[in-house]
Amino acid sequence: VVVRSGADLRVELCGLPLENPLMPAAGTLWREAAGGVRGVYGALLPKTVTREPRAGNPPPRVAETPAGMVNSIGLQNPGVERFLQELDDFDVGAPIFASAAGDTVDDYRYLCELFATEECIRAIELNLSCPNVKRGGLSFCAAPAAVEEVVAAAVKAAAGKPVIPKLTAEGVVENARAAEAAGASALTLVNTLPALTVDVRSRAVLVRGGLSGPAIKPVALRAVYEVSRVVAVPVVGCGGVATGTDVAEFMLAGASAVQVGSASFMRNVEEIKEEFCGYLKDSGLDARGLIKAAH
Ligand SMILES: Cc1cc2nc3c(=O)[nH]c(=O)nc-3n(C[C@H](O)[C@H](O)[C@H](O)COP(=O)(O)O)c2cc1C
Repeated sequence: VVVRSGADLRVELCGLPLENPLMPAAGTLWREAAGGVRGVYGALLPKTVTREPRAGNPPPRVAETPAGMVNSIGLQNPGVERFLQELDDFDVGAPIFASAAGDTVDDYRYLCELFATEECIRAIELNLSCPNVKRGGLSFCAAPAAVEEVVAAAVKAAAGKPVIPKLTAEGVVENARAAEAAGASALTLVNTLPALTVDVRSRAVLVRGGLSGPAIKPVALRAVYEVSRVVAVPVVGCGGVATGTDVAEFMLAGASAVQVGSASFMRNVEEIKEEFCGYLKDSGLDARGLIKAAH
């Protein structure tokens, strides 16, 4: 029996019942830490995985910025084979999603085919903020046609498993339309924003990467709001969530679930969940009622 401290937090995403709308943003929950978040998240999303192992970028890989951080981790991961061997570590009672990335459409197809045969993977997020080598290294998110091509291939390979493309803020409405047309079951919005920090002491670029944290929350909220008005599939909000009120804001903007990334380095996500629960109690709503109120 699950004892809830207050409001009913249960939601549904792509036909999957979730105990609550929270999940880790891809790349921010380490395998070693998964055991410590039992009961916290409605679904678990490990770091993005690629076909082959990746060592990631050289240091420095993170820099603090006002209300956020810039990271250039570079998709460090052990490769899909090892990822699947270690997947049990993420089994803490909540559905497990997987995040896939690659250099080519065929990489995504390959990963989705593998994930399709893994019973414990319940949905597949596509990290589309990666250079597409066949299109001169532009991000898959650089053009709706590229989004449509990769999503269509992934959906076919996933053999019925929900595919959730994760988009960048730039061009998000057109890319969202393309992803939906290609068969996406939901959309995650947004990935980090292109950013750079400079170190005046060494007179050099410190980190060239992606901005995350509260600094990007209004950008992410706008993406969720605009996209959720033009697509029929559910939207998963991501970007700057650090409090329970932030979770409510994303759901009121149109999100059906919400990811917590950078804030999980500073705060216990259980507290964010409790704050969200408190907001719902004060509003006399449950999580599904809040989603309905937003639509
Ligand atoms: C250290 C770090 C690693 C990340 N790794 C990934 C990743 O592997 N795959 C991915 O799709 N996004 C990755 N992201 C982006 C987050 O999933 C998320 O989209 C972004 O950080 C915005 O959310 P936040 O403001 O809550 O952090 C990473 C972000 C950070 C800070």
